[in-house]
Parts: sequence; C-alpha cells; structure tokens
Amino acid sequence: MIFVTGGAGFIGSNFILDYLSRHDEHVLNIDKLTYAGNPYNLGSLDGDARYHFVQADVADHAKIAELFSRHRPRAILHFAAESHVDRSIHSPGEFIHTNVNGTFNLLEVARHYWSDLEAQQRQEFRFLHVSTDEVYGTLGSDDAPFSETTPYAPNSPYSASKAASDHLVRAYHHTYGLPTLTTNCSNNYGPYHFPEKLIPLVILNALDGKPLPIYGDGQQIRDWLFVGDHCTAIREVLARGVPGETYNIGGWNEKANLDVVRTLCDMLDELKPKAAGSYRDQITFVQDRPGHDRRYAIDARKLERELGWKPAETFETGIAKTVRWYLDNPQWVANVRSGGYLKWLELQYGGKEKS
Ligand code: NAD
Ligand code: TYD
Repeated sequence: MIFVTGGAGFIGSNFILDYLSRHDEHVLNIDKLTYAGNPYNLGSLDGDARYHFVQADVADHAKIAELFSRHRPRAILHFAAESHVDRSIHSPGEFIHTNVNGTFNLLEVARHYWSDLEAQQRQEFRFLHVSTDEVYGTLGSDDAPFSETTPYAPNSPYSASKAASDHLVRAYHHTYGLPTLTTNCSNNYGPYHFPEKLIPLVILNALDGKPLPIYGDGQQIRDWLFVGDHCTAIREVLARGVPGETYNIGGWNEKANLDVVRTLCDMLDELKPKAAGSYRDQITFVQDRPGHDRRYAIDARKLERELGWKPAETFETGIAKTVRWYLDNPQWVANVRSGGYLKWLELQYGGKEKS
C-alpha cells in the first residue's frame, strides 16, 4: 500500500486516479477535507477495493501513527497543504498548522515507523514530499529559471510555510537518513482545479458573465504545467528518484497572466460564444496581490536528464483539454460552489474593482 495525503484536492485526486489506472497497489487517501478537499473528485473509485479513504488531519499524531502501524505503507506521498497564496495573506495560521506542523508530524511518525522496518523494507521505503517552485521567490525578466540549487527566498506566508516544510524534509534525510524525495513544481492546471485559482476562476466567471479579475498589470509570469504531467513526474520520482534528492518539475510554458486570460476568453468565444461580444469584454483590472511575485520559471532539465521525464502536453493542448473538461462537467462545478466558496469571492474580490 501507498499513503497519499491530501488526495481529495486538485493534484492529489488527479494523482490517485492516474495511479490506480496503471497499478494494482492499494492507496490510502488521508485527507482532512477542508474547503479544498472534494471526495466527489474520486467518485469513479466507489466500490474499488484498491482505494481507501480516512478523514484525518496530517498534524494529528495519534491518528497518523495508528494508520502507519495498521497499514504498513511502502511509501507516503505528501500532497496535503493549504495551497492558495491569497488565503495565506488573509489567514496564515492554517498554513503554519498544515504545511509546517503537519509535515513535521508526518516526518516524525514516518521516521519511527521506518527505523523499525526490516533492512530490505527500510531501503525501499520512500517519503515523497510534493512542493512548489514558489519557495525560490521571484525572478527578474532576464534571470535564469529556478534550478534545484537556487537559494530559497519565499515571499508569501504560503511559500514560506512550504519552504519550512522542505527544509524539515531535507533535515530528516540528512540527520536520520529517512529516504525522502522532494519535488518542486510550477503552477498546475487541469481537471478538478478548485475555482479560487486563476485558470478555473476565469473559466467559471466568464461563463457566469462575471468580471475576470486581473491583479495589477497582469504581466506577472507563471510557468504552467498540465496536472497529468505533474502526476507522471511524481510517479517517475517515486519509482527511480534518488533518496535525499530534490527534483524541479515544470512545463517550459512561461505565460503572462493577461495572455493566459485572453487565451481562455478566445477558446470560450469559439466553444461557447456569447449572444453578443467577446468574453474579453469581461476582463477587469483589480488591486494587486500584496508582495506579488513577478515571475516564476522552472529549469526541469535534471528530471529529464536523470529520469527521462518530459511533459507530454504543450500549453495549447493542455488548456484545450481543461476548458473542455469544465464545459463537460457542470455537475462538478455546481458541487464545489458552496456557500463557503461564495463567501471567499466576496472577501477577496468585493469592492476591489479598478477598471
Ligand atoms: P489543494 O488545495 O487543491 O488540495 C489540498 C488538499 O489537502 C485538500 O484535499 C485538503 O482537504 C487537504 N488538506 C489540507 N489541510 C489538511 C490537513 N491538515 N490534513 C489533511 N489534509 C489536508 O492543493 P493542490 O493544488 O492539489 O496542491 C497539492 C500539493 O501540491 C500542495 O502541497 C501544493 O503546495 C503543491 N503544489 C501545488 C501546485 C499548484 O499549482 N496547485 C503547484 C506546485 C506544488
Ligand atoms: P494562482 O492561480 O493563485 O497561483 P499562484 O499565486 O500560486 O501562482 O495565481 C496565478 C497568477 O494569477 C498569479 O500571478 C496571481 C494571478 N491572479 C490574478 O491575476 N487574478 C486572480 O483572480 C487570481 C486568483 C490570480
């Protein structure tokens, strides 16, 4: 069995669906089911004997220890996190709880479990920590992309909490020899993405006739990766990554936010035209995010060189799949738009419109 934490979230649920389409190994999904956790994402696994779910907080020591001793996993893949930068600006405490204390707790439990294993199992055990490129801070327009040796310089409470967790993972390998692997990935997009993040928010607001909020001048750059490619990379790192190493994962797709939003509008104009005008008419510049990082870019050559991984999707093919998925899944969309989601939109966007 493998453990997956945060498997009801965006990337974790894509990972579990992808993993179980290729393996017969059992998966235990440990998820607290915060606002971002949606068991509906994994509805297609209902009745599948290989899939197991436990609702638990990764920071709950007794519960996590009990799960390790009962199920004896060969690996843990740690996706669970508070993941949204804007929420980390409003309420950083949750980010420290889950991303820092939660990761620390998993490391402690895993260390004790691992140190009691037989020699062969000890050698094969893996703690794979899923992290972000945001730990490296921000780049100028002429700077080289982030590599695995770029110094950490996190700028938001989210990225600082992820950086702290990465450092703990590093220390547990260095000090105790725990066989850890860390992946630092760029911005993902694709199916099951919660509509607080740029791409799903824009698709759904466009269809609803609402403003498409662009922070600041919209010239901030992100390096976009289709979520299926992230899942493939994680499988490769789990199978063949070297314990103690970190691997950057990216799509070689640097795009300015405004260009991403315009592309989405043009695709929707084609697939679901409005009665009059273009979705571009809904683009609205709003107050910038405090401390907003200007540019992220990932140098993913280590992963390609050492493990042969390359993204299968270009931005054009991945974004076309994504827009079609949102159009084809109105049930999922209706399901995630709860009262809590609407309150978030009011908190984050209410009264911030500039033009
Ligand atoms: P998400 O917010 O969609 O999902 C997070 C999941 O973790 C949810 O199911 C939530 O219920 C669960 N969770 C939160 N707190 C928990 C706790 N205390 N105990 C147990 N479960 C808890 O996040 P995501 O976008 O799927 O990101 C997954 C991981 O990938 C995160 O570690 C994130 O930092 C990292 N990452 C994300 C991106 C991206 O673009 N989304 C890019 C690079 C790295
Ligand atoms: P987001 O999806 O929140 O990811 P991250 O902050 O982790 O990169 O945002 C992607 C980019 O889009 C980021 O530069 C902020 C910007 N953005 C907007 O311009 N408007 C929005 O409403 C949101 C949510 C993000």
